[in-house]
Amino acid sequence: MIERMKSNFIAALEASELTPGKMICVDLKGQRVLVANVDGVFYATDDTCTHEDASLSSGSLKGELVKCPLHGSRFSLRTGEPMEDPAEEPLRCYAVKVENGTLQIELEPRKHR
Ligand code: FES
Repeated sequence: MIERMKSNFIAALEASELTPGKMICVDLKGQRVLVANVDGVFYATDDTCTHEDASLSSGSLKGELVKCPLHGSRFSLRTGEPMEDPAEEPLRCYAVKVENGTLQIELEPRKHR
C-alpha cells in the first residue's frame, strides 16, 4: 500500500512581491516567519532572533546574512547558524517552493545542513 505524503506547505505570498535583496515577515498560523529573496533564491526562517525577542525582518539583509537589529548578530539564512555572539542558537529553517507564482512555506523545520 502506498502511503500518501501529507504536504504541510502553506501559501505565504506572491513570489513577485519579494524582489531580490528584500525580506519580509509573514504570519503563518500564528508563527512569524522571515522570508527573503537572495539573488532569486527564497529562504524562510524564524523571524524572531534566538538571542532575545527581536524581529529579524526589521534588521538588514546582506547576501544570505540577516543582521539582528537589536545586538547585531548575523545569521545565515541558508543554514540558520549565527555568525557571531551574542546569539548562539541557530534559527529554524523552512523549505520554500514556488507554485504558480505563489511562494509556499513548509512549517515543519528542515534539518540543518
Ligand atoms: S536580540 Fe538578536 S542579537 Fe540580541
